[in-house]
Amino acid sequence: MSDNRPLLFFDSGVGGLSVLAPTRRLLPDAPIVYAADNGGFPYGTKAEAEIAARVPALLGRLVERHRPRLIVIACNTASTIALGAVRAALDLPVVGTVPAIKPAAEQSRTRAIGVLGTDATVRQPYVDDLSARFASDCLVLRHGSAKLVELAEAKLRGEPTDPAAYAAVMAGLLDQPGGDRIDTVVLACTHFPLVETELAAASPRSLNFIHGGEGIARRTAFLTAGQDWPATPTPGIAVFTAPFDVPAGLVAGLARYGLDDIRFL
Ligand code: DGL
Repeated sequence: MSDNRPLLFFDSGVGGLSVLAPTRRLLPDAPIVYAADNGGFPYGTKAEAEIAARVPALLGRLVERHRPRLIVIACNTASTIALGAVRAALDLPVVGTVPAIKPAAEQSRTRAIGVLGTDATVRQPYVDDLSARFASDCLVLRHGSAKLVELAEAKLRGEPTDPAAYAAVMAGLLDQPGGDRIDTVVLACTHFPLVETELAAASPRSLNFIHGGEGIARRTAFLTAGQDWPATPTPGIAVFTAPFDVPAGLVAGLARYGLDDIRFL
């Protein structure tokens, strides 16, 4: 039996590739549609109401077009704001991406954790709730950065980025009162694992960076266990929500993740 229904990944931009990569390793035969809402990018500086209205509507259109078997919202901002609404609206399994505060609390020796996300994510009650449930004996410091999202987009396109910019982001987290105790940093935006090497190089000491990509890949494999996949491999599809001239660097960057067929919604 052959089943061509894809896995649908969704993010505002290229951040969700940090979730796609470990999923492809576990499910190499899965057809992939990777949707980037470039028409709404960036999410992290937007108001909750805008994201809450936009994400379920777009996912509805993408589901009609591509008929996926499962959706991965590969974006912390969209997940912490709109996961419930998407699940209520769509009759499909939906895997969300939420800040990896639980594993961070399990691993921190100093009981001080940093959470690096977008401005919209770090102010969510969802983060308060995760901190209270899983890290109640930890100091949890947060820092929101729109700049780091831009840096990750630029790196994926193959553009050079300034090491000082990464150092400034880390200082925003570590220079807060108690920040000198942090040993574990949650990358609570899917763009940030794409620049983990640069963040580590710009940090004043060795830190344990954690993100949810591997866990989401395992969850997706669990939810699709026993299902059939296409008999012959299909090229991955990248869908952008607004038409634009896709630069050669971005075409090459997407191809590195197996996304060779670029389309517009
Ligand atoms: N990649 C997204 C996240 O995980 C958001 C980036 C943005 O559009 O600001 O939060």
